[in-house]
Amino acid sequence: MFEHLPLYAGDPILGLIGEFAEDPRPNKVNLGVGIYYDELGRVPLLPSVQQAEELLVGEHQPRSYLPMEGSPAYRRVVEQLLFADSVDASRNSVAIIQTVGGSGALKVGADFLKTAWSDSQVWVSDPTWDNHLGIFQGAGFTVNRYPYFEPAAKQFDFEGALQALGALPAKAIVLLHPCCHNPTGIQPEREHWVKMLDVLQARDAILFLDIAYQGFGKGLDEDAWLIRECARRGLTFLVSSSFSKTFSLYGERVGALSVHTGRDSHAQVFGQLKLHVRRNYSSPPMFGASIVARVLGDPALNQQWQGELAQMRDRITAMRAALVEGLTKRLPEQDFAFLAHQEGMFAYTGLSAPQVRALKAEHAVYAVETGRICIAGLSPSNLDHVIEAFAAVM
Ligand code: LMR
Repeated sequence: MFEHLPLYAGDPILGLIGEFAEDPRPNKVNLGVGIYYDELGRVPLLPSVQQAEELLVGEHQPRSYLPMEGSPAYRRVVEQLLFADSVDASRNSVAIIQTVGGSGALKVGADFLKTAWSDSQVWVSDPTWDNHLGIFQGAGFTVNRYPYFEPAAKQFDFEGALQALGALPAKAIVLLHPCCHNPTGIQPEREHWVKMLDVLQARDAILFLDIAYQGFGKGLDEDAWLIRECARRGLTFLVSSSFSKTFSLYGERVGALSVHTGRDSHAQVFGQLKLHVRRNYSSPPMFGASIVARVLGDPALNQQWQGELAQMRDRITAMRAALVEGLTKRLPEQDFAFLAHQEGMFAYTGLSAPQVRALKAEHAVYAVETGRICIAGLSPSNLDHVIEAFAAVM
């Protein structure tokens, strides 16, 4: 019945998890998937999360269905975290639903846009997170790329991006990363964003902002600047967001889709989002979102979490600096300063696919074939091995 189907080649990021687990080499290092590890190489259970979890378990709540749009308490804290005072929460200008992770938000958002603007096409940065392509293509869109990474200088290609965005057809769907660009870690300056937004606004583009790392870049508020600027401009736009990384809640699949609508279309948009949820999975799961709502809704736990988030951010920054220093010492003829200017969990090393394959085969260091590494997989105990491995393949 199904023999005609092609074999799935596997996912370029998630596929590495299984391969890494089966690798028997004791010195293996996983810099593939975007997961934050602490300096002992463990996925942390944040103390704020643990406390909220214990409180919730102690309350022994029944497990009825959540509404299609998810938990009201969770949706309120998400709105506050993303939009802060750029919107008036009492005016119903943002339609928010809880989703199955950030991927679920992208999927529901893509399905929703296909209903609203079926003839539109999608533009994503070149490069982008591989699954952006998969999700929008899966929703039936043609996906195009706009220039983003300038390989010679290893920096943001502002002129290229501006020119391409200025030539878009009306109602083009444009995916933007408000912070911690995945995979490059390269962010436009604010003055770049302002010019890009001017152009996109003039082209009547539909903006889709994907933020999975709020607080891993410069800080919670700084990282959400683009979202708040779009709201202040009164734009209609979508935001997909995730607590996988910032709460270390990967397996709980806690995400959200927010549509800044202005008041006029709020009811239509909110209804359509619920319809797409119903058709996909009916309603979202409860526990992970309850943890996030409890932590963010309690001033003391919220403060504590912000401290834990800052610790994760600081560790990433320290490991990035140590990598740049170590590589510069080991390979003084090469310039690694570009790595220091990147932000967030990822570094875009410039390693080619054959070099990445050699890293894995000869040194048990796993990276994504695009040359992306997850800085949060580095620790004081594996750094020297990684630097030696890089030096050997570079
Ligand atoms: C990543 O980019 O590694 C993460 O967002 C995990 C994923 O789903 O790809």
